[in-house]
Amino acid sequence: MTDSPIDRSEFDHRSVRRDFVFGELHRPDLSPNPVDQLQHWLSAAEAAGNFDPTAMCLSTASAAGRPSSRYVLLKHLDVRGLCFYTDSRSRKGRELAENPFAALAFYWPETDRQVRVVGRVERLSEADAEDYFQQRPLKSRMAAAASIQSTPIDARTDLEARYHAIETQYPEGDVPRNPAWGGFRLVPDEWEFWQGRPSRLHDRFVYLPDLSDAQTWQIQRLMP
Ligand SMILES: Cc1cc2nc3c(=O)[nH]c(=O)nc-3n(C[C@H](O)[C@H](O)[C@H](O)COP(=O)(O)O)c2cc1C
Repeated sequence: MTDSPIDRSEFDHRSVRRDFVFGELHRPDLSPNPVDQLQHWLSAAEAAGNFDPTAMCLSTASAAGRPSSRYVLLKHLDVRGLCFYTDSRSRKGRELAENPFAALAFYWPETDRQVRVVGRVERLSEADAEDYFQQRPLKSRMAAAASIQSTPIDARTDLEARYHAIETQYPEGDVPRNPAWGGFRLVPDEWEFWQGRPSRLHDRFVYLPDLSDAQTWQIQRLMP
């Protein structure tokens, strides 16, 4: 614990607050399956005007336990888990290779909701990676081919030169996917659905696997 007081002379955000008034969350509102619940909340966030409802904060950690977080986009959701795509040479890719556990968090201010998910991460098949890569716009495929994600580069112009070299090399647009670029699935073993409520008396429910039946989840309310 540090005993030096906070310097409040600058950047004091103590008065930045709002009440959460969108709605309530009760046990009967919850789907027995957290995947259905998440799908429902994703649709509701989109309907409420959120323009990046699938953006999720992904936290990974090194083998030594040093964490790092960043946003990625959810691309598929099914009973097996939540899928995203990235470059496995990136920091997240390196951390997942040495420590396959990760956490995800969504926040949708329009609906005052947060969802947290924890689990083990597995690599999707090459066929899945290829399938999604080919669906991406041409310029995104070119950019993925030009970049070794999270590796230092001296100047923006060097990055653009790498991009133009790919453009020149593949004038027909048939740029191949680097095998390092692929998909990952977080297989959840813990979920939390949070509904903001007035005066910070929020509703929270966790889903944990039912140890007696792998197909079902136990739901528990938590204090805010
Ligand atoms: C809304 C949003 C969505 C993003 N989606 C992705 C994504 O799906 N995949 C990806 O590799 N990076 C995505 N990024 C960039 C990452 O946040 C991050 O900068 C990059 O993956 C490198 O992270 P790392 O060095 O920790 O591996 C996104 C960023 C934002 C703000």
